[in-house]
Amino acid sequence: MKISIIGCGYVGIVTGVCLADSGHKIFFFDENKKKLKNFKIRNNIIFEKNLKKKLISAKKNIFFCKNLDDAVNKSDVTFVCVGTPLKKNNIELKYIKSVTTQISEKIKQKKKYSIIYKSTIPPLTIEKICIPILKKNLGNKIDKNINIIFNPEFLREGNAIYDFENPNRIVLGIRNFKSKIILNKIYKKYKKKSKLIFVNIKTAEFIKYFSNSFFSLLISFSNEISNLCHKIGIDYIDVLNALKMDSRIISNNKVPELINYMMPGIGYGGSCFPKDIKTFIAFASNNNFNLSILKNVDKINSTQPKVISDIILSKFKRMQIKNCLVLGITFKENTDDIRNSTSIDVINFMAKSKIKIFIYDPIFSKEKFLENKKLFDNKVTYLSEINFNKKFSSIVINNKSSEFKKIIKYYDKKFSSLIFDSRRAFSNQKLNNYFGSGLNLQLKTDL
Ligand SMILES: NC(=O)c1ccc[n+]([C@@H]2O[C@H](COP(=O)([O-])OP(=O)(O)OC[C@H]3O[C@@H](n4cnc5c(N)ncnc54)[C@H](O)[C@@H]3O)[C@@H](O)[C@H]2O)c1
Repeated sequence: MKISIIGCGYVGIVTGVCLADSGHKIFFFDENKKKLKNFKIRNNIIFEKNLKKKLISAKKNIFFCKNLDDAVNKSDVTFVCVGTPLKKNNIELKYIKSVTTQISEKIKQKKKYSIIYKSTIPPLTIEKICIPILKKNLGNKIDKNINIIFNPEFLREGNAIYDFENPNRIVLGIRNFKSKIILNKIYKKYKKKSKLIFVNIKTAEFIKYFSNSFFSLLISFSNEISNLCHKIGIDYIDVLNALKMDSRIISNNKVPELINYMMPGIGYGGSCFPKDIKTFIAFASNNNFNLSILKNVDKINSTQPKVISDIILSKFKRMQIKNCLVLGITFKENTDDIRNSTSIDVINFMAKSKIKIFIYDPIFSKEKFLENKKLFDNKVTYLSEINFNKKFSSIVINNKSSEFKKIIKYYDKKFSSLIFDSRRAFSNQKLNNYFGSGLNLQLKTDL
């Protein structure tokens, strides 16, 4: 099929490149000219495992358009993948509105067309905002000749290509039967691996928020309990390990991946969870509904980086630590995305102390650091690589990158550096000076 992608961010690029690799002709457009040009020459694009490989293998099916008219003209279907950022604790829909207006003007002459929204938008957005805009230009062609679909995206940054190609579900909000036929064609390759779940549009919009709320709930619940464990000298990992063995959780000796969301840490970040939780709260409130549990999820998350920084700094003060290497800058491992990175919050809180802070992340390049320098306290020193001769008296680990294992093992052995593991990803590494979230060695009682 001929498909245009409007918005070449994380979602647009991954969607388009994977669909191109599955045989469709893809026409990309982004209003950010620099971004589009860089994407075209494969320079400074988002970091995702296997993305560059796929861009090469799918090259013959990938086209770049100078404007939205061109992209829409050349395609039978468009995926709307523009940003829906947060504005004053609620969602900003101006990009969705402007793209909807532009598309509706361009498809007036088309006999048939499908608009598939992939951006995350609150329930009823399509019904109450997009459809009235589309109707102005397209009148009763909507649903007859023009199919309107909502297809939420569940990819996890860092695993985005894998997730797109191995979906566990493809949720499709539709208004008519014809949409089913189109979607079956688009997702032909993935249908074997996954179920296509057809629901109405507002249910599909809701499913996305429900899903992200559930994971955020697990994270904040676990962080709060882990903070309590720290307070009274119980290792949270011992507590979690016992829970895992419950037969309602473990199955055939396999612990579900869900448990990863229960590891302690510095709170969730990234471009989705913080924004989606706040938006869902606002959506409920606009419908006179108090989503009290999510309000607390959000509150716990916003204080978690400070809670953890205070724990680190009080220990470092007692130990008279002079310098610290922070490993992990982006919001999680295997991505270069620093949007709402709680690691940056921890770094900046720590930089307010007298300790000299050095930061390193294998994925976050110097170029990206310089572009975003204003987000960091100016006392922070960025390192492009680790000079193993330099002594760091302490290390803080803020994500689970496997590269960190050899670094912490080396510093533990060579310099007896004090190691704080905020995600407890390395608790089984038998390090001498190890502590971390949910583990207060001062109060911990050994067996
Ligand atoms: N990043 C994720 O992991 C993820 C996962 C699931 C869902 N989502 C949702 O998908 C949407 C996109 O997320 P993202 O991370 O890709 O955002 P992004 O900010 O990386 O990319 C959005 C792109 O849209 C472009 N854009 C804005 N207005 C435009 C217009 N009028 N015409 C053409 N291009 C325009 C911007 O220039 C930008 O490049 C958001 O709603 C987000 O919540 C994101």
